[in-house]
Amino acid sequence: MAFTVAIDGPAASGKGTIARAVAAHFGFAHLDTGLLYRGVGFRVMQGEDPLTVAQNLVAEELENPDLRGAQVSQWASKVAVLPEVRAALLDFQRAFARRLGGAVLDGRDIGTVICPGAEAKLFVTASDATRAGRRHRELLRSDPEITFDTVLADLRERDRRDSERSAAPLVPAEDAVRIDTSDMSIEEAVAAAISAVAERQ
Ligand code: C5P
Repeated sequence: MAFTVAIDGPAASGKGTIARAVAAHFGFAHLDTGLLYRGVGFRVMQGEDPLTVAQNLVAEELENPDLRGAQVSQWASKVAVLPEVRAALLDFQRAFARRLGGAVLDGRDIGTVICPGAEAKLFVTASDATRAGRRHRELLRSDPEITFDTVLADLRERDRRDSERSAAPLVPAEDAVRIDTSDMSIEEAVAAAISAVAERQ
């Protein structure tokens, strides 16, 4: 049986961690849709054409650890503004969402555009300072010089671009359950998400 869990939210809100844990708990497949835009952004950063890249993206490219870098994040959100890039990535995401056995997709527009009929929808948020602190700790591993203020400014710029674009902006679906992870441990946030999904089963 198909069962789709749509998890949206801004950068570093905790949605990726929650999505992985929810997928593991229910035995569902998981797709981090941000990686698709990062895969496109990475190659556009090297001078390739966004639409051509989006139409020819292959799964192996998405395993490249460089896709997680700060510069790629900005390029990902720049290519994500383009409606033709979003359209090229749509069918793959929808097919993944309806696979038998259940699927969890996390991103920005899963509950609103990709899977408006998803059986369960979550919108995960956290304060700017909490999100920047998390992302800063993560990025320090590969870039020991990076400052908290740079990470905070980058996150805010990306949130603004993601929320203000006209194609599939970052907005909560009306029927999404909201989880603010600012003052929650990972375990608490995951437990809240699992119980929200279980209620929809
Ligand atoms: O989630 P992540 O931070 O990896 O996403 C990178 C960028 O990809 C986001 O800032 C956003 O611009 C874009 N994105 C999107 N729609 C999604 C997932 C990601 O526009 N469903």
